[in-house]
Amino acid sequence: MTAWRLPEGGLPVPTPPLTHGWILLRHWSAGDAASLSAAWSDPEIARRLPVPDDPTEARAAAWIAGEAERRRLGLAVDLAVVDVDDRVFGEVGLSSFDPDRSVALVGWWTAPGQRGRGVASAAVRLVTDWALGELGLGALVAEVDRDNAASLRVADRAGYRPLPDRPEGRVALVATSADRRGAAGRAPAGGC
Ligand SMILES: CC(C)(COP(=O)(O)OP(=O)(O)OC[C@H]1O[C@@H](n2cnc3c(N)ncnc32)[C@H](O)[C@@H]1OP(=O)(O)O)[C@@H](O)C(=O)NCCC(=O)NCCS
Repeated sequence: MTAWRLPEGGLPVPTPPLTHGWILLRHWSAGDAASLSAAWSDPEIARRLPVPDDPTEARAAAWIAGEAERRRLGLAVDLAVVDVDDRVFGEVGLSSFDPDRSVALVGWWTAPGQRGRGVASAAVRLVTDWALGELGLGALVAEVDRDNAASLRVADRAGYRPLPDRPEGRVALVATSADRRGAAGRAPAGGC
């Protein structure tokens, strides 16, 4: 796999925003702080993902304010998943960029009231296609708890396949640009 180079000026946000018709992936904005704080306070999200100990609206606002700097430094691309009325339904994020291996980590969550409607599957498919296409990464890796059946299903629907070497208690799944090229012309794995 050839090395990947951080774009000049840092990590971009997809422009125009990625969309699947009824959901859209955009950068976080100051008005999302209450929605983000509520999501961080959800026990299931807090159990599965690293969230701040103090998931207050002020903390969420500070995290959102740091979004552009995290991209500039090449640390992360965090995208809000919103509906046609701009309500926050979830998040997808890329982090742990490894230019030498041309790989990054992908993570996601869906707000409690919006689960089971295909939000995460569509969002993960969109961000994966973008990262392995326009952004030029060779692979994305997702690390999912072995007992997180919904998330394993999301990864499957978004075209990820489990890696044989699995960290303890977690399943590592990968989507590669080579897989995507090989799948061209075949039907997508999910409804995205
Ligand atoms: C996991 C999570 C992101 C799923 O989001 P979502 O928007 O509801 O996911 P989708 O609707 O796109 O798809 C979920 C799939 O899992 C299935 N599913 C849901 N709950 C399930 C369960 N308990 N067991 C098995 N499958 C389940 C759904 O039926 C669907 O599959 P289908 O399309 O074949 O019917 C959401 O539950 C969440 O945010 N959980 C907490 C945070 C988290 O776990 N993040 C991921 C860390 S790796």
